[in-house]
Amino acid sequence: MANNGTIQVGVIGAGRIGKIHAENLATRIPVVAAAAVADIDLSAAQELAARLHIPRACSDYRAILADPDIQAVAICSSTDTHARIIVEAAQAGKHIFCEKPIDHDLAKIDAALAAVKQAGVKLQIGFNRRFDPNFRKVREMVAEGKIGQPHILRITSRDPAPPPASYVKVSGGIFLDMTIHDFDMARYLIGDVREVYTAGAVLVDPEIGAAGDIDTAIITLTFENGAIGTIDNSRKAVYGYDQRVEVFGSGGMVTALNRTPDTHLYSNPEGVHSAKPLYFFLERYSESFLAEMQEFIQSIQHDTTPPVTGEDGRAPVLIGMAAKKSYLEKRPVSIREISH
Ligand SMILES: NC(=O)c1ccc[n+]([C@@H]2O[C@H](COP(=O)([O-])OP(=O)(O)OC[C@H]3O[C@@H](n4cnc5c(N)ncnc54)[C@H](O)[C@@H]3O)[C@@H](O)[C@H]2O)c1
Repeated sequence: MANNGTIQVGVIGAGRIGKIHAENLATRIPVVAAAAVADIDLSAAQELAARLHIPRACSDYRAILADPDIQAVAICSSTDTHARIIVEAAQAGKHIFCEKPIDHDLAKIDAALAAVKQAGVKLQIGFNRRFDPNFRKVREMVAEGKIGQPHILRITSRDPAPPPASYVKVSGGIFLDMTIHDFDMARYLIGDVREVYTAGAVLVDPEIGAAGDIDTAIITLTFENGAIGTIDNSRKAVYGYDQRVEVFGSGGMVTALNRTPDTHLYSNPEGVHSAKPLYFFLERYSESFLAEMQEFIQSIQHDTTPPVTGEDGRAPVLIGMAAKKSYLEKRPVSIREISH
C-alpha cells in the first residue's frame, strides 16, 4: 500500500474485458490507483493508458510484477495466459484478480492455486454475475429460506450473436467459455453439483460445428443437496441477450428477469411492445464488473477472503468438463469422474 493508503493495481491485458476493469480501477474506486497497463500489443496498452491517464504502459507484464509499489494485478489477458501469470504474480507477492476461466487444464489450475496458497496472497476469479443485484437478491432469498427447500433451478443463458469461428477454436468450447458462468451461477444459487447430463447441437452456425464445438445446449444438473436444475444455452437469440434465472422450492419461487434499457410499453394495433434486453455482457453486467472489483479491493484492505475464491474458479471447470463428456458419451456424468 502506498503511504497515502492508495492501493496500486496493474492491469494485464487491454482487450474487451481489460478495458472495463481498467476504467473501473482508474475512475470509480477512490482508494485505488491504476498504476500500469501491460499488453503484448503495446499500442493497445498505450491507448488504454492514455485514455484513462494511467501513468505507465508496457508490453511485458513482468514489468508490473517487478514493481514493488504495485500491490495487486487484474489479469485480463487471454485464457491460455492466466495460470502462468497467476503463478508468477503470486511469487512476486501480488494480490490477484483473474478473469474466468483460470485455465482449461486441471493440473495448471492446481499449480496456480498452490502458488497462491504458498504465497499467502488473495485470489479472486471474475465470476461477475454473482455481483449482479438481481441474481444476488435471488441468492439471498434462497439462502434465507424464502422459497422453502429449493427443488428446481432454471437458468436461461443465450447470447445475442455467435462469436467468430476463430474465437471458438481457442475458446475451450461452449461449456468452458460460455456455460461456465451458468455453472458458477448454479453453485452460487443452490450449491455443489453432483451430476450432469447434456444434450447439444449445432443449430446456429455450421462454422461453429466445423470448429469442433456446438452452439446450442441443455444441461440437466443434479445437486449434492438433491435439487435438480437445467441450464439452456444458445449462441444466438434474435431478440437479444437472454439472461434469466428461476428457483422453485417447497415454499414458493423467485425469478430474475431480463433487464431492459427502459421499461416503456408501447401498445398499437399490432400488439404490446417493449424494449429488447440490454444488448450483451458489457451493457447487462456493467454494475457487476464494478462491484466485483470493489469487493476484491475491500478484501485486500480488510484482509478478508475474496468473495469468489480459487476453489470457486476450479469447480465450474470440473462441471464443464463433465458436461462435455456427457455430451460426447451421451450419458449422465458424475463430477467425481472428472476430479478423480
Ligand atoms: N467475466 C466476463 O464476463 C468476461 C467477458 C469477456 C472475457 N472474459 C475473459 O477475459 C479474458 C480476456 O477476454 P477478452 O474478451 O478481453 O479478450 P481480448 O482478445 O479482447 O483481449 C485479450 C488481450 O490480452 C492480450 N494478451 C494476450 N496475451 C498477453 C500477455 N501474455 N500479456 C499481456 N497481454 C496479453 C491480447 O493482446 C489482448 O489485447 C478471457 O479469459 C475471457 O474468458 C470474461
